[in-house]
Amino acid sequence: MKKTIWAPVCISAAILFAACGGGEEKKTEEKSEETPVVVDDSMVAPTAGKGKELIAAQDCKTCHQEDAKLIGPSYNEIAAKYENNDENIATLAGKVIKGGAGNWGEIPMAPHPAIPEEDAKEMVKYILSVGK
Ligand code: HEC
Repeated sequence: MKKTIWAPVCISAAILFAACGGGEEKKTEEKSEETPVVVDDSMVAPTAGKGKELIAAQDCKTCHQEDAKLIGPSYNEIAAKYENNDENIATLAGKVIKGGAGNWGEIPMAPHPAIPEEDAKEMVKYILSVGK
């Protein structure tokens, strides 16, 4: 009997929690390690996972992985090299769009002129949160 009482309480607590968390960017960044554990957030628009989803929809994974160097550096390496701040996010988003070379080796990164700047920033935010 007790279980039937608790279920709706838990669900509304989960919704409340997600709704509150969305407004505080710092907290969602700190929590990023735990996010895979989150049970069912299908009713709430995801904020922390947006960059990851955008990346998954692009060709990035051909050259980048989270923790292994492929053609380009791993997201872990990129996150270790650059501090997660607005300036770096803007610079790196620019490189995603226009392409870049010479920071990690001889191989240049292909430009992605079709990606809107806002999306590129979301992707970089995600990359810089990897491993932190
Ligand atoms: C054709 C392979 C390739 C693809 C596709 C690719 N990258 Fe890269 N990326 C690279 C290489 C190579 C570098 C290192 C460039 C350098 O040395 O400056 C790099 C560097 C980067 C950097 C760091 C730039 C710097 O100046 O330190 C970021 C951030 C990045 N890539 C994000 C992305 C994202 C996001 C995507 C998908 C939209 C993507 N890359 C797609 C090859 C690729």
